[in-house]
Amino acid sequence: MCGIVGYIGKKQAAPIILDGLAKLEYRGYDSAGMAIYDGEKINIKKSVGRLNVLENLTHGGETMPGVLGIGHTRWATHGAPSDENSHPHFNKDETIAVVHNGIIENYLPLKKKMMDKGYEFRSETDTEVLAHLLDYYYKGNPLEAITKVLHRVEGSYALGIMFAEHPDEIFAVRKDSPLIVGQNDDGCFIASDVPAVLKYTRTVTYVENQEIVRLRDDHMHFYTVDEEEIQKTPVTIDWDANAAEKGGYEHFMLKEMYEQPKTVNDTISPRIKENDIVIEELNMSDEDILAVKKIHIVACGSAYHTGVTAKYVIEGLARIPVEVDVASEFRYRNPILEEGALVVVISQSGETADTLAALRESQARGFKVLGIVNVVGSSIAREADNVMYTWAGPEIAVATTKAYSAQLVALYLLAMKFGKVRGKISDAEFKEMLNDLKCLPDQIELLLGNKERIQRFANRYVGAKDVFFIGRGIDYAISMEGSLKLKEISYIHSEAYAAGELKHGTISLIEEGTLVAAVSTQPALFQKTISNMVEVKARGAFVLAVTCEGNKEIEKAADYVIYIPETNPYFANSLAIIPLQLFGYYVAVGKGCDVDKPRNLAKSVTVE
Ligand code: M6R
Repeated sequence: MCGIVGYIGKKQAAPIILDGLAKLEYRGYDSAGMAIYDGEKINIKKSVGRLNVLENLTHGGETMPGVLGIGHTRWATHGAPSDENSHPHFNKDETIAVVHNGIIENYLPLKKKMMDKGYEFRSETDTEVLAHLLDYYYKGNPLEAITKVLHRVEGSYALGIMFAEHPDEIFAVRKDSPLIVGQNDDGCFIASDVPAVLKYTRTVTYVENQEIVRLRDDHMHFYTVDEEEIQKTPVTIDWDANAAEKGGYEHFMLKEMYEQPKTVNDTISPRIKENDIVIEELNMSDEDILAVKKIHIVACGSAYHTGVTAKYVIEGLARIPVEVDVASEFRYRNPILEEGALVVVISQSGETADTLAALRESQARGFKVLGIVNVVGSSIAREADNVMYTWAGPEIAVATTKAYSAQLVALYLLAMKFGKVRGKISDAEFKEMLNDLKCLPDQIELLLGNKERIQRFANRYVGAKDVFFIGRGIDYAISMEGSLKLKEISYIHSEAYAAGELKHGTISLIEEGTLVAAVSTQPALFQKTISNMVEVKARGAFVLAVTCEGNKEIEKAADYVIYIPETNPYFANSLAIIPLQLFGYYVAVGKGCDVDKPRNLAKSVTVE
């Protein structure tokens, strides 16, 4: 959601900024722009559309010479995607340029105030108010102007700012929207996320809330909003830079689906020691685990779906009641958190605004929060009391696959650990479950190897209007994720239903040929789900079943069956989701959709 890149140094800034913005494309955007200081003045080029429009407009940056600049990819919040609403935004004399990620919540009263003072607005954005406020407070000292503005604005922001009168520095500021700064021998960088600068430097510093950075070509200074200088320690990023490249795959999504055996293994293996599960990062003794009376899981989107699965797994294995909330609901429903509650927030990006707000709400009420997070050093990772990382590496495709799979297995580990400590799983069961866990990577590999069959099936549904996913218990959670995968990238309407619930209304939508994907991985519920399949088939549905090897009886009710290898029923999600991911992917490819960057979506949803 909005990407910011800035550079000041010895090299031409525009190509570096364009390159960095390309690495942030996964965040989702609808327009792009750059401001570059050319030695005399700041020039801005911006346009609605993909980054290649800006690249063409500037001949790959060549027509915008200069060694300092800021760039932006915009995901529209206030004002439609348009050239005028694209960032950067200028002050009236075009001497101050600003790029912004986030939302200025009090922009309307501020805008009115500035209009009363004679400022004219050229866009409908909340961001433009920042450019005029900076203009108003600027009396020669950029830092002073920035701090005055920060004391007046409410909301979330990551900002890149440049002043024509200070052509040897650019500024970066952050509150509740991600921002990092980096440095190499040639210059300094600002970016919304590490992949934007990884080609140039591995030495980055995470900017904390309400910190201001002054970047020059050879050093950076950090300040508080009260202009006090502070010292910060950079970190070294140790990921493989190739992890953020496509590596020969047609799409990041396909590559990331293929990485699932590895990410599942990387998330499980370090935590299995001598036939036990050791999760040091939990920082919980056995007594602490025994004291947990209830678990609240809070997350958004696919991460929420892993939470729904975890509810069944944790309640089943550890016999602890689990409540699962969509983060945007949790924070406003005045949730009842009582003594003995453990809050678990799940997030790939670690920057999802609602999940972060839920974490803060829980901490403000005095409860400890465990974060299950993928992006190392992200806001949720830094603010959670304890962090259990999912070792999926950088995930670029907007539709999550490998991070989802890593979250699932992290939650299984948690459930098993709690179950064992609480004496709810026997040693023999635990041993068997560990074996089943260790088999998951190979079994996922096997299912991925079956992609041609799913591709052929998917090709039949590129013209589908509606698709329904049904399942019971854990299978309902899998259905939710299967449905989201399909709709978010193929734009085909799809819904997930608890299989028994369909006949309470939605079954009226089933027509001749409507595809219903029935997930049935829980032996105890096989017969029940078959009954629901028969119900929709009788009304003309074409039934695709995803079930476990050996459940031959399902063939009587299904038109097409995909079998998953045998595993512990609690872990079935990790296998059943693979064909559903492939199905969504191939339908979207068949329709010619922009699979990695679906319309309207952002990878990291940093606004409420
Ligand atoms: O980064 P997070 O895991 O917090 O993101 C949560 C959702 O925004 C994310 O899972 C979203 O639903 C994806 N588009 C799903 O593919």
